[in-house]
Formats: sequence, C-alpha cells, structure tokens
Amino acid sequence: MSAASELTPPDIVRCAYLDLVVTDLAASREFYVDTLGLVVTEEDDEAIYLRSFEEFIHHNLVLRKGPVAAAAAFAYRVRTPEDVDRAEQWFAARGCRTERRQGGFAKGIGDSVRVTDPLGFPYEFFHEVEHVERLAWNYELHTPGALVRLDHFNQVTPDVPKGRAYLEDLGFRVTEDIKDAEGTTYAAWLRRKSTVHDTALTGGDGPRLHHIAFATHEKHNILAICDKLGALRKSDVIERGPGRHGVSNAFYLYIRDPDGHRVEIYTQDYYTGDPDNPVVTWDVHDNQRRDWWGNPVVPSWYTEASPVLDLDGNPQPVRERTDASEMAVTVGADGFSYTRKDDRAEGFKLGNSL
Ligand SMILES: [Fe+2]
Repeated sequence: MSAASELTPPDIVRCAYLDLVVTDLAASREFYVDTLGLVVTEEDDEAIYLRSFEEFIHHNLVLRKGPVAAAAAFAYRVRTPEDVDRAEQWFAARGCRTERRQGGFAKGIGDSVRVTDPLGFPYEFFHEVEHVERLAWNYELHTPGALVRLDHFNQVTPDVPKGRAYLEDLGFRVTEDIKDAEGTTYAAWLRRKSTVHDTALTGGDGPRLHHIAFATHEKHNILAICDKLGALRKSDVIERGPGRHGVSNAFYLYIRDPDGHRVEIYTQDYYTGDPDNPVVTWDVHDNQRRDWWGNPVVPSWYTEASPVLDLDGNPQPVRERTDASEMAVTVGADGFSYTRKDDRAEGFKLGNSL
C-alpha cells in the first residue's frame, strides 16, 4: 500500500446525490414530490429516486425506507472511471473502511466506492451513471418554486480545522469560513464546482448531516415556496428564513422534512472558479455573517441535525464539539454580536428576543 501522501486524490466533479433514510416513504413523498416538486425518476415500495429540473443524471436524492432517519451516503461524481479507483486507494491508504460495488449502491449508478471518511461520514464516489431527460426547458412542468439543481451538502463535525485539512487534501478549496480573534474556526465552506460550495462543515456534535440544499433560479422562487407552504397550512415546516446569507451571499430558506431532515432552498451565490479566488473570512461576532439583514439564527438550527450511518447501516456514534460553540458565543445571555465592528454601544446580544 502506498503512503497516503503520495497518492493522487480522485478528481471530484461535484456533489451529486444524497442517500437519505426516511421512516415513512409516503409522508416523505408528499413533502419532496407533492410540495417541493422534485421529479420522480423511478420509485418502488422501498425507495424513491428524485432529481431536480436541470439534472441529467439519474437522481440527486434517494429516499430509502428504513428504521432510523439518517444519511446513508453523501455521493460525489468523479471525472473518470479511474477516479473511482483513486478514491478507493486514497481512503484505504488513510486507514478508512471502503466498500466497492461494480453495480453501484443505488439504481441508475454504476461502479462506486463507499468509504467511512476520517470524520466518520459515509462518502460515495462514482462516475458511471444512467442519463435521464434534462427537463430544463420543460416549463410546462415547472412550478413557481421549481428546484433546478442540487447545490450542496452541509455536515456537522466537532473539529472543523481537521475536517478542512482533510477535504483540502482530497482536492476541495475553501471559499469562506467563520472564525474568531482567538483562532477558533466555527465553520468552513469548500468547493469542487465553481460555486461557493459542494459541502460545508458546521462546528458541532458530529458526524451528522446538517442539510442538503437545492437551488432555484431566482429569489422569487423561494418566496413562492413560502407562499405555497402557507396556503397548504404547512408553514410550520419553515425553520429559518427566507433571508439573504452573509456567507455565500445567497438567498435562502430552511425547511424540515417529516423526519426532521433539514433542506435548504438556495439561490444566487457567486462564481469561485479562478485558482486565486479570494477566501472570505467572517468574524463569528459579525451579526450579518449568517443573515445579511441581521435576523437571529434560531437555536434549533445550531443544535439539531440528522445521524449518519456507517457502511453496515448503523448510526455512527456522535462526538461532542469541545471548541467554543457558535451559538454560545453569539446567542443568548453569554453571546455577543455586533452590526458595526467596534461599535459596542450599538452591539446587541442576538437571542434577547428568543
Ligand atoms: Fe447551505
């Protein structure tokens, strides 16, 4: 076996799909298909394969019936079939468990490797995939809140610098992060495709899935989703937003599915594809970092997340974050956030109104 540092990492193209275990397939179908309008590529009694309107690969989300609501795999597409070999070797050299299946782990996907990564997350890498019809021009099918692309994953992990270093070794580039003056890192955004991220690391007890994010074309599409949820008397699935992020500059909405899995609807971040794309660092006390308009982050957004599974399908044990928590330093009696840096008189503690 080669030394880990000598191996070429796989050339990862983009985040491609999430394999998600849900406890009530019918309830999840109502949420993801009837309410959000994702397109069903294929379905049976055990699983539903969904894609967004601009997608041409078999699926972006698998809803798989199971006993424990959890994420079974964060799947990435790699550039060539040989990159699947590279992924298998790269993780094996780091002592990670790997499992290769020539026939894939999900319908519509060919030769794949799944690994338990150094942070405890189930990652999958594949190249071969069944092409399906890209419905980008089928506006007769689009709803006002049409979800057009899978944009990113977000993962909760206790040690963000460790996770960031590993993902940078794997070929990801950091686009933005949240730190404090003492050097604690609270979150980091990492990309392969030329957007702000394919995945983000949020500091907290983990490994856990924080959310999966789908993109709409424009901001008004997100408002249409909010209006639809209100009309259906389902406004209680809205957890946070709509709003504009500071980090990523994107417009956002967070909603929760019937199992509590968090879904973000996201649009209009910026191009990051140049090799010298500048990294944006936010102060954790900057009140506009997570919401550009200064609206408070709700505590559940910091504390609640979905379990992830090992390669046998068992929930991974969760390790506690020991670094300072972003919620503790910004929300509530012990927290402090400012709107104008060094303007202490006008600073206020987010969470006073919660
Ligand atoms: Fe996100």
